[in-house]
Amino acid sequence: MSDFWSNWIIVLTLIVLVGSVWLLIANRKTEVRGDLPEGEIPKTGHSYDGIEEYENPLPAWWFWMFLSTAAFALIYLILYPGLGNYKGVLDWTQEKQWQQSVDTAGLELDAKYAAYAATPIDDLAADPAALRMGRRLFNNNCAVCHGVGGVGGNGFPNLSDHDWLYGGSGEAIVQSITYGRQGVMPPWGAALGDRGVEDMADYLMSLNGQPFDAQRAARGAGQYKLFCTGCHGADGSGIQALGAPNLRDRIWLYNQTDTPLLENVRHSIRNGRNGNMPSHADKLRPEKIHLIAAYVYSLSQTSRQR
Ligand code: HEC
Ligand code: HEC
Repeated sequence: MSDFWSNWIIVLTLIVLVGSVWLLIANRKTEVRGDLPEGEIPKTGHSYDGIEEYENPLPAWWFWMFLSTAAFALIYLILYPGLGNYKGVLDWTQEKQWQQSVDTAGLELDAKYAAYAATPIDDLAADPAALRMGRRLFNNNCAVCHGVGGVGGNGFPNLSDHDWLYGGSGEAIVQSITYGRQGVMPPWGAALGDRGVEDMADYLMSLNGQPFDAQRAARGAGQYKLFCTGCHGADGSGIQALGAPNLRDRIWLYNQTDTPLLENVRHSIRNGRNGNMPSHADKLRPEKIHLIAAYVYSLSQTSRQR
């Protein structure tokens, strides 16, 4: 604001303030005549449609309240910004006040995070306040992929069950979040051919108690020993160090709901899969990751064993 307009506002404000006080005092009447007989109480001479006005003083409480609001306004305008560019004696600003609240909240949060960071994950998983914070962080950072409540979806692992690609201990979960994970399933279409892929899929169905063709499954079993044991284990129960899923637990990472399971499994075998869990080391402080991990850990603890 230019000095001219600033001064303009200061002068206007002060004139209004002083003027209204002057008006009040200059017209003040102190004599109470309410005790006079009805006919003798003086009137102001105003008459509206025959209704006249007694000339009585303002109630004292009203008069003094008006004066004190004027005094309050004056003191306020001296202490705080309000008169044009004048900053006020206290040098108060919205920005400073806001920064102060942010700093205070930050300090409180840091103290909370620090306390939680020192608590082991399985203990935190029993602390409702910590889990509430963890859930909020999870919903903000993870739910886009893993769904609210960590229930997962096609290509995104369910984090609330007991089936883990990389392990469900507190440390394994922290590791998954911090550094991310890269699932590498090579494509086998070229090596196995179309018939080989179908044989293999039937073999996997046989491991899962699904309907299967016995002859194909038998051929698939032979190929499995050759190509798949190294990552998924001899019995198909997976190897967490490689992120190779258990292929016999009826839980499928890749299972588009509008496509039959058999087709999904054939697709995985033929074309391979490349699940990518992004690293969060740059996005989340270790204290936050610790809290989220506690929340994720708690999900599989409270859900029923499958
Ligand atoms: C180099 C290690 C490796 C080899 C060898 C391998 N896989 Fe995999 N497989 C993986 C990994 C890792 C995943 C998980 C991919 C992901 O997370 O995106 C996977 C995923 C799968 C899936 C999807 C599972 C699901 O839950 O949806 C199927 C099916 C599968 N593999 C079958 C096979 C078969 C059959 C063979 C042998 C022909 C085989 N894999 C060989 C590492 C391997
Ligand atoms: C961009 C999508 C995406 C985001 C965001 C994401 N994830 Fe993941 N996450 C994945 C995928 C995909 C996998 C599976 C990787 C694979 O196939 O190997 C995964 C795997 C995991 C695993 C390993 C699961 C297991 O069975 O071992 C955990 C734990 C996990 N995520 C937790 C989180 C948490 C916590 C967050 C939030 C901080 C998060 N993820 C954010 C996509 C995501």
